[in-house]
Amino acid sequence: MTTPQALGPDLDQAIRAAVALIRRSRHAVALSGAGLSAESGIPTYRGANGLWTKFGEPTIDGWELFCADPGSWWEHVLERREGSEFGHAIDIAEPNAGHVAMADLEHMGRLAHVITQNIDNLHQRAGTRSITEIHGNRAKVRCMNCGGRDRLETISLDRLPPLCPECGGILKNDTVMFGEPIPDDALRECYRQSAIADLFLVVGTSAVVYPAADFPVMAKRRGVPLIEINPDETPLSDIADVAVRAPAGMALTAIVELLQEL
Ligand code: APR
Repeated sequence: MTTPQALGPDLDQAIRAAVALIRRSRHAVALSGAGLSAESGIPTYRGANGLWTKFGEPTIDGWELFCADPGSWWEHVLERREGSEFGHAIDIAEPNAGHVAMADLEHMGRLAHVITQNIDNLHQRAGTRSITEIHGNRAKVRCMNCGGRDRLETISLDRLPPLCPECGGILKNDTVMFGEPIPDDALRECYRQSAIADLFLVVGTSAVVYPAADFPVMAKRRGVPLIEINPDETPLSDIADVAVRAPAGMALTAIVELLQEL
């Protein structure tokens, strides 16, 4: 049992303040990032051992190559897919206590929607149903014509690029690449949810990538309270009403447990 008291006075106070805001909310929305999946063994992008810290951020020529020659792009991606350390970490990852707690919040009627920047499918595997994957899903492909999505394992890769079974359009992996526009359907839902949110939880994100980092700011401009769950400060920390400076698994579990007690 992760009692807030056991977490220390400051954390105990932050958890209680977060729970008070959640209890008053009728449509809480969460924005999650790589920090939430760090406890599942998936590297983050920035910070001490982040992927981009170690290897540098990807350039946008991947997106340009796809646009110029989707067939060659697919050949290149399929060659590298097996050897990817990051991809392997995702393939063997399991949902952690943070994902489970967020699914519990949804089942308790305390979390209406999750906007995730993560591509690892762990929210859904933990039981979250109302979710928008603004940066896509590594296990899916998306049609560049009709926007339809399928699981990667269901499409034939005998012919590259693979074509959409519905409209014959060219398929791409669903993960949004640097330089690639965010898919319209995902972007519309993110703005819709941000416009109706009456509470925003920002969980495990450095809040430096847009448009994702803008959603909590848009809500804040309407007077919506912000809860940040992150061991470290971010550009949103100054506007957060409550900052829970702890790992997401511990913090979210303590929040759920306190809600269940009240
Ligand atoms: N619990 C909560 N937060 C954590 C934890 C943890 N256990 N461990 C690390 N963090 C925090 C870090 O302090 C950091 O603020 O999670 C954040 C991770 O930041 P990033 O690595 O930048 O990940 P993210 O914010 O999701 O990146 C956004 O950048 O490159 C793009 O598409 C990529 O979706 C990604 C986007």
